This record gives sequence, structure tokens and C-alpha cells, in this order.
Amino acid sequence: MSKLKVVGGIPLRGEIAVHGSKNAALPILAATVLFPEPVELTNCPELADVRHMLALLEELGCRIRQQGDRVEVDPRGITCTELRTDITRRLRSSLFLLGPLLSRFHEAAAVYPGGCDIGRRPIDLHLQGLRLLGAEIEEREGRIYCRTAGLKGTDIQLDYPSVGATENLIMAACIAQGVTRIINGACEPEIVTLCEFLNRGGFSVTGAGTPQITIRGGGEGRSIRYEIPADRIVAGTYLAAGAITGGEIFVRNAPVKELTAPLNKLREAGCLIREERVGVYLKGPKRPRELKKIETRPYPGFPTDLQSQFFALCTVARGTSLIVENVFENRFVHGEELQKMGALCHIRGDMAVIRGVKSLHGADLTAHDLRGGAALVLAGLRAEGMTRIEGAQRIDRGYVRLEEALSALGGRVTREPPEANV
Ligand code: UD1
Repeated sequence: MSKLKVVGGIPLRGEIAVHGSKNAALPILAATVLFPEPVELTNCPELADVRHMLALLEELGCRIRQQGDRVEVDPRGITCTELRTDITRRLRSSLFLLGPLLSRFHEAAAVYPGGCDIGRRPIDLHLQGLRLLGAEIEEREGRIYCRTAGLKGTDIQLDYPSVGATENLIMAACIAQGVTRIINGACEPEIVTLCEFLNRGGFSVTGAGTPQITIRGGGEGRSIRYEIPADRIVAGTYLAAGAITGGEIFVRNAPVKELTAPLNKLREAGCLIREERVGVYLKGPKRPRELKKIETRPYPGFPTDLQSQFFALCTVARGTSLIVENVFENRFVHGEELQKMGALCHIRGDMAVIRGVKSLHGADLTAHDLRGGAALVLAGLRAEGMTRIEGAQRIDRGYVRLEEALSALGGRVTREPPEANV
């Protein structure tokens, strides 16, 4: 257990580079199970969730070699198709392994996966899709047992464009017999990345980035080297940190094209934004303007993963802002923590009304989930005095040493004990 200590009141200044994307890396790591040969990934972020996924792969029999952000997964030794229980309970993305394992080895088993506590997170769309592809799935005593005589391509209409279900089904369809069409699939950039990786590795997927994705099955896969792209949510978090502190920063590698919705909101808040080929420059106002309405939506809408950071920004805005959370049902827990700093917000169901205050004060807080935790750090950077945030390990799931990144921009953020995030 570790804690972040933030001393507020300093506008961030300088340049920061964005690390590799967690949400791109996790399905790609799971997809290595489809390959008959080793796969090498570079710019793979050194995060708790990535470590957990690597541990799961290792338990299945993969050989993992890791040096900094370079990871090699050799899947040739896979002998087991059941996911390790303790890790699966902690990592929702463990689910990503069901599709590829089932496809290649015709069986997979796991307990129900865990993850951040941001509402009910069912897995019905994943299981429905796998059943349509020909999996027999039994759910008993909290475990999921899947088997098949061989998956067969088909049309799968998703009731909701779930990111994870789309990814899982794409991977499952890669080795299936025949053609699979996913209709109403998610369009998130991480889907495009996964499909680019699969295509480079010898599989055949078209339509990524649109709601209809076609996978021609029967692929075999071949050894490849692939660079994980920059994390759009981390980039958005750094930009929000620059904005809330009235700072002036350059976020190198920020994937500009994937950040249209958040950048528009930052402009509305009064930030000066310059989109460059290699990143984004931001100059924040002394005090942000209110955001009339943010509604989280599947991509290209405003990402739910940046909702809490922009919530923090609204707490010190000149007027009243409205946030509607449409993707997850319990994603305003940070609101209660921000109130301890003097924020004025009223939360009802999926809506939060935030009346901006002139200043926040430091407080003792708890990070209940990954992005909500990052929002508390941002508020701490703006607040007067010291903020202590318990549960830093939740923030570490998605940010590589956030305290070091913000310190490099002049923020005063330290960890206790200092060596806890390794
Ligand atoms: C992914 C991201 C997460 C992001 C989310 C939405 C990863 C590793 N995680 O999560 O950071 O916040 O997309 O952009 O990429 N749902 C069902 N049944 C299902 C699956 C999902 O009802 O079988 C619901 C969920 O409860 C949620 C909504 O669909 O309300 C969106 O979930 P989904 O898009 O699946 O998110 P994840 O893939 O879990």
C-alpha cells in the first residue's frame, strides 16, 4: 500500500512524453496466445495491469522476457488453458484471454474477472459472442468453462459497442473457420491498434475503426515486432493537469487525432491549445471556464476514462458545469472525495452538477479507482496546502510513476514509501 502526497499551487511547466497505451497493450498481449511463434512488443508500459497480464501468460506456459518497456512473449510452451484465479479476480482484462485460448486450444476456463469498481461490469456480451462462434459455455460456482470442437465464423450483432467484447471476439474469430462479421462493434482507437497488430502478424481483419468489422478466419500467425502506441488517456490526464494548474506544457507523443473531444472541452474551458505533429501544446487560464455539458460516450465521444479528471477541472471553474456519465453506472465516487477539498458538487444517478469554487484546500483522500484517483492528484496540484491520497496502487494500474511525470513538470508530488511503485 502506498500513498501520494501532493503540495498544490504550482502551475505546471515544461515538456512530458506519454508512455505506451495500457488499453492497447492488454488485448495485444492476450492475442499473443494466437501465435505459433514469439512476438516482441516495444513501448509496452510498465504498469501493474500489464504485469498481471504477463503473469497470467506465464502461468499458461508462455515464456516472457522483459527488459524495460520491451517484452517478448513466446507462446510455444502453452500447456494450460485455465487462468490463474487470484490474478483474474483483480484484472478484468483477463477476459481477453478467453477468446484466443478457445480459438487456438479449443478450451478455456476462468473465474469471473475483477477490475476497477466503477459499477456492475457484466460479461454477457463476451459470452454471447463466443457462443455464437460455437463455444459451449458453462457457468457454475463462480467459474466459466468454455470448450468447442472448433469455432466457426458467423455474424455477431452486439447490443452495445463494448470495447472488450469487440476485442475478444475479433481475436476469437482469427483462427475460426470462415468469415465473422461483428456488427455494432466498438470504434475505439485501441481496436484499430489491435487489428493492425493482428494483420501485421498474418491474420486478416478489415473495418477496424468502424462499427462493422470483418475477420477472415483460418489465419496462422507469424512472429512479429510491434510498437505499442501512446496512451490517449494518459495524454488527456497530463493536459488536464496543465489546465487545472493554469500551467503551460507540451505533451509529446500525445495522439492528437484521438483526442478531439477532450481537446474541444479544454478549449471551452479557456485553454490555448496547439495541435502539433509530435504532440499538443497547452496553456491554461488562471481559472478555467465552466463546461456547459460533458457527456461520456463510446469513441469518438468524450471518453469515460477522462471524465473524473475533467470533473476535477470543473471544481475550480468560474461557473457551473454538468457531467453526464453514460458508459459506467458508478463512476462518480471521486466526487465525494473532492468535496473533502471544498468542491461543491451534487451527484444524482448518472449526472453531476459541479459549481466551481475559487480554491480547493488540501485533504486526506482515498483513490477508489484508477482514473478517479488520478483526478484527486490533479485537484491536489491546484489546491492550497497538502493533499494525501491513499490507495496509490490503484493509480499505478494505468500511469507509469505518475508522481515522477508530474514532478518533471514542476509539480510537487511524492510517494510514501518512495520505493512502492516498482
Ligand atoms: C474498456 C477499457 C476501459 C474503458 C472502457 C470504456 C480496456 C482494458 N478497458 O473497458 O478503460 O473505460 O472500455 O471505454 O480497454 N458491458 C456489458 N456487458 C459486457 C461488456 C460490457 O453490459 O459483456 C457494459 C459495461 O458494464 C459498461 C459498458 O458496457 O457499462 C462499456 O463497457 P466496455 O466497453 O466493455 O468496457 P471494457 O472493455 O470493460
